Amino acid sequence: MDRIITSEILEEDKDIELRPQIMDEYIGQTEAKENIKIFIKAAKFRNEALDHVLLYGPPGLGKTTLAHIIANEMGTSIKTVTGPSIEKSGDLAAILSSLDDYDVLFIDEIHRIPKYIEEILYSAMEDFKLEIMVGSDSSTSRNITIDLPPFTLVGATTRAGDLSSPLRDRFGIVAKLKFYNDSELTAIVNRTSKVLNCPITSDAALELARRSRGTPRIANRLFKRVRDYAQVLSDGNIDLKITKLALDKLKIDELGLDDTDYHLLKSIIEKFNGGPVGIEAIASSIGEEQTTIEDVYEPYLLQRGLLKRTARGRMVTKLAYDHLNIPFKGDK
Ligand SMILES: Nc1ncnc2c1ncn2[C@@H]1O[C@H](COP(=O)(O)OP(=O)(O)OP(=O)(O)O)[C@@H](O)[C@H]1O
Ligand SMILES: [Mg+2]
Repeated sequence: MDRIITSEILEEDKDIELRPQIMDEYIGQTEAKENIKIFIKAAKFRNEALDHVLLYGPPGLGKTTLAHIIANEMGTSIKTVTGPSIEKSGDLAAILSSLDDYDVLFIDEIHRIPKYIEEILYSAMEDFKLEIMVGSDSSTSRNITIDLPPFTLVGATTRAGDLSSPLRDRFGIVAKLKFYNDSELTAIVNRTSKVLNCPITSDAALELARRSRGTPRIANRLFKRVRDYAQVLSDGNIDLKITKLALDKLKIDELGLDDTDYHLLKSIIEKFNGGPVGIEAIASSIGEEQTTIEDVYEPYLLQRGLLKRTARGRMVTKLAYDHLNIPFKGDK
């Protein structure tokens, strides 16, 4: 298990300095945050483990961050694994039996746990019991039950729909993370500016926020790239002029769309007459994985009203034609 946990931490190390540690530093997501705060208080008051929490929403919106904050606020430690790294039921049994009282077990990409392993979670979540089969053949094998300490499972997924219903139903707290609005993202950009000790003017912070696809991870990434331009081409302070220059060079447009978004929208318009068209056809026409389109690109395009999902497939809207400066024919 050490291998899995270590690689996970290394992967996330890059972001660690910018990751808020406590609820009050976690900007936005007001509804989810306020509810979880109450549940944490109540669990602490009763001296119980917090009920299991499922966090879902597009990448980069703060699921992992919130999982760590939950453990911090509960005053417990957190153990992290990813769904696909759990290959055998023994892997999951080992993780579960390593937990201490009230620990948070964070399973990222929980929808990718193989279904036959997932069943072990059912009794672990419901009764804090681990039911496993021991013995190598049918004559010696038997079921044994091991008591587990009370713990909180925090699951994160970009695809709540891919979770089986028995698993989904065992989460007492389900929170959907939403795209951030401009003022929340501006606050995140200003916080990043302080943490990285790199000043930014307020109009530049707003510009960065507007072009970050409602996503803190993107805001932070763009901040770092704009900082590069500011340090090389001017005095290191980020103003509106250098922000616009950098974002234009990075080919991020005023809505935050990048080359892949353009490619995606344009190929639906040019090859499929604007749609409706199935996701598989879109994926092969632009050479991206279907899941990448569904998880990474599409949610923001849908949210901005540039793309529409219908029973017959995806359609590009009039808004997108206007944005791309392509004459619109029809009633989409
Ligand atoms: N509410 C927030 N306030 C301030 N910064 C945030 C917030 N949410 C996320 N961030 C920043 O964005 C980065 C990405 O967030 P995080 O890794 O938690 O996203 P995620 O939802 O787990 O993404 P993925 O689905 O790809 O795992 C964090 O490192 C943090 O710096
Ligand atoms: Mg994450």
